[in-house]
Amino acid sequence: MPSHDIALIGLGVMGQNLVLNMDRHGFAVAVYNRTRSVTEQFMAERAAGTAVIGCFEPAELAAALKPPRRILLMVKAGGPVDAVIQQLRPHLQPGDVLIDGGNSHFADTARRSKDLEADGLRYLGVGISGGEEGALYGPSIMPGGPPAAYETVRPIFEAIAARADDGAPCVAYLGPLGAGHYVKMVHNGIEYAVMQLIAEIYDLLRRGLGTSAEALARTFAEWNRGELASYLMEITAAVLRRQDPLTGQPITEVILDSAEQKGTGRWTVQEALEMGVPIPTISAAVEARGLSALKAQRLAASRLLHGPQPGEPPAREAVEAAARQALYAGTVCAYAQGMALLQRASGERDFGIDLAETARIWRAGCIIRAAMLEDIRRAYAAESSLSSLLTASPFREALGEMNAGWRQALETSLRLGIPTPSGSASLAYYDAMRSARLPANLTQAQRDYFGAHTYQRLDREGAFHTDWLAEG
Ligand code: 6PG
Repeated sequence: MPSHDIALIGLGVMGQNLVLNMDRHGFAVAVYNRTRSVTEQFMAERAAGTAVIGCFEPAELAAALKPPRRILLMVKAGGPVDAVIQQLRPHLQPGDVLIDGGNSHFADTARRSKDLEADGLRYLGVGISGGEEGALYGPSIMPGGPPAAYETVRPIFEAIAARADDGAPCVAYLGPLGAGHYVKMVHNGIEYAVMQLIAEIYDLLRRGLGTSAEALARTFAEWNRGELASYLMEITAAVLRRQDPLTGQPITEVILDSAEQKGTGRWTVQEALEMGVPIPTISAAVEARGLSALKAQRLAASRLLHGPQPGEPPAREAVEAAARQALYAGTVCAYAQGMALLQRASGERDFGIDLAETARIWRAGCIIRAAMLEDIRRAYAAESSLSSLLTASPFREALGEMNAGWRQALETSLRLGIPTPSGSASLAYYDAMRSARLPANLTQAQRDYFGAHTYQRLDREGAFHTDWLAEG
């Protein structure tokens, strides 16, 4: 007798936590995992005493679900998603809804969706952010796919999602096909950028000024109470506060300076290049992970390459105040670029993504949740076709007021030889955006010189060519 509301496949920690979240909200969940022992252990331990049932065959799982079946896949992006779909397909019926809750590429989601449609199966690509804790207590959920299919899962998602201060659940239908995974991809691009901006400021204050990790923990905690309040700021303070049990040092002092990446940041950059949308703060953050991974080469070069001579150390208080402004301004640039990419894709890829709604559902639950998202939501709610977030209040005014400090922090980094790829890219982005005239006139002329590519003029319409080798 089909009795269960939803199934979840893939009992990694995220999957397990989502199951427990759904169970806590009164939904009857059936679970399945490729490795039998994982299901057995979950049922015996974390799911003990809940209404969750463990299934050991796809057919058993399918038989347990009320129609139309709703099956949430929490498996590794790529081949594993296709493999699970193939396994399930013979047991499904038209109208059933498959939901991919992993970090899948939006193009894969569109492909799977079209393929399953041939059998009358409905597919939702859903970005889920918030890590393990978010999954358990309330993630931010970014669904895309057929609207009617979304309606079948909406009550579950609205129940389990994080709630922002106004009580609204952090979930909203975002658009067809891969729209949900697209928004999650851009979320992760912004996540990379904000993490990198924070790391650069940490580097300036720790390595550049010699501030202790403990003192920095206090600084970041203090900043987290103001305009920079965010989850990433909060965890930065907590991380800096933590001692290493083995050495008694701050744990950040013993962690290797080489960060990995699973691919969503890189996809964001590839897609932005494809769309022709500049996202330099985000690109620099992805590149910075690449640079960090060149540990052996950096070690070797560090013995050979020279930097600035250490001069008089700058006054810490002034640098800290400037650094705070640079961090805020850089973060605004990261959001401005991510939103610009969403806006372009929304039109070009027919996603029709509502940017105000996107900012709204990012206000709680997800990794990039931040106080400034309410300002971002308001800006797009007031003007959905806003051409740049930088020009909207209160950002325009804040970036103006912080301009001197922003530049000062970057100047200090430059002088001390501390690399600030995302911070510098942010300021260059801002300066380019506020320049009515850029030097691309010269670029146009050069292209015409060597390749007769023609150029446009400021004062009349049309394509022009100069015979550059003739006497002028
Ligand atoms: C989230 C995170 C989550 C994951 C990233 C990490 O929103 O919950 O973004 O999806 O932590 O995939 O990405 P990297 O491994 O590429 O840093």
